[in-house]
Amino acid sequence: MNFLEKKICEEGIVLAPTVLKVDSFINHQIDPLFMQQIGCEIAKRYKAERITKILTIESSGIAPAVFAGLELDVPVVFARKKKSLTLTDGLITSKVYSFTKQEENEISIANKFLSAGERVLIIDDFLAHGEAALGLAELVNKAGALISGFGIVIEKSFQDGRQKLVDKGYRVESIARISEMNANGITFLKSEVTSL
Ligand code: G4P
Repeated sequence: MNFLEKKICEEGIVLAPTVLKVDSFINHQIDPLFMQQIGCEIAKRYKAERITKILTIESSGIAPAVFAGLELDVPVVFARKKKSLTLTDGLITSKVYSFTKQEENEISIANKFLSAGERVLIIDDFLAHGEAALGLAELVNKAGALISGFGIVIEKSFQDGRQKLVDKGYRVESIARISEMNANGITFLKSEVTSL
């Protein structure tokens, strides 16, 4: 078991066969040293890709993205889900449907923070149906930048997000890949994490 799988088993709560609560270290309280380890692991996998920018989405993607950005020494931009008072000009937007909340949100970034030709690593905390990931990919494509790949903290491999991204030719690196979860426990797919 890698360091994240172990933490998920110790602190994660399976609320339903498709919903995992990890608010003690990702979605509400953040364990900074642990999050740094996650960011470093994602960064390590993309070290050779000459990443120039990391893109994530508020709110829970920000922490792992910042630590990966620290490691790769590149800026981190987070897409906003709500309209900002100060962020009004030069926006790039895309629509994201949330299966969990059953609502559509328009996500946005300022085009001055993502330029054509940049090499972008997209990071998020969960990969479920891949809607957020695809919305972020659309922002990168609209900016004329290149998607080097995705760095995901927890992938729910029994949902179709990874397949949607792979079908589009994107590289997906997830630190924990859950194949099944229920009241009896959580099963992971084989992981390639080396820093235990
Ligand atoms: P998708 O983006 O992959 O299509 O997934 P979906 O619409 O189902 O997810 C919407 C929100 O729910 C996202 O966070 C996503 O990270 C989160 N999520 C999906 N599955 C789980 C799960 O099993 N456990 C937890 N804890 N979160 C899950 P969000 O609403 O944007 O929240 P936040 O980033 O502001 O914290």
